[in-house]
Amino acid sequence: MDKVFLTRWFWWVLLLPCTFVGARVAQVVWYDPSALGPDPAQSLVDLFGTIALWLLCAVLFVTPVQTIIKARWLLRQRRALGVACFGYALLHWLSYAGLLLEWQWQNLGQDLLKRPYIIVGFLAGLMLLVLAGTSNNASARALGRRWRILHRLVYPAAVLVLIHMFWVARSDYTEVALYSAVVLLLLLHRWRQQAKSS
Ligand code: HEM
Repeated sequence: MDKVFLTRWFWWVLLLPCTFVGARVAQVVWYDPSALGPDPAQSLVDLFGTIALWLLCAVLFVTPVQTIIKARWLLRQRRALGVACFGYALLHWLSYAGLLLEWQWQNLGQDLLKRPYIIVGFLAGLMLLVLAGTSNNASARALGRRWRILHRLVYPAAVLVLIHMFWVARSDYTEVALYSAVVLLLLLHRWRQQAKSS
């Protein structure tokens, strides 16, 4: 299949969750205030966070899956997955800042005491920003070998996101334990590959 066509097609797929969330918001605004549950603002923050997490897992899955099914096209889509992950994490942050904090930055200190897991999420978000910002060809050329080393940041970022989630969960840890098991397996796979090649 044509490379450019495939990449464009893939970008549209990555925008689908956004249209789903947009449709739900329209539903809440125009005819069904309960479409996003009893606390729509909280649900929106959670939704964007969950989508960003799925995309982060997808980024981590690309290399092991590609070594099994030998699909090079998949490797080429990793950049789009990473940038989309950052995009949804940004929407997650924006919905937190706009809907939960209501842009009242003077209340941030108090909110951080109430929800300290935000600091961990923020650190992960910064790492995703660095990864998305240097995912272009020009940065890869300029950084050379260091680019690969820098892009290993995706692993500590994933670990920080899991800590962020554990902290949010408070009582039911089933979901976060499942995500942790998946990420741990992917990390182990990565370390094994690295140990083999060195
Ligand atoms: C950029 C700074 C970040 C802020 C300010 C932030 C803030 C929050 C807040 C306020 C919640 C909701 C807690 C609740 O339900 O009571 C949350 C949950 C969550 N966040 Fe973040 N977060 C950040 C970064 C991230 C990143 C980078 C990711 C993933 C890539 C992420 C993934 C999640 C997930 C998966 C949840 C739980 C959703 C659920 O329970 O359904 N967050 N975050």
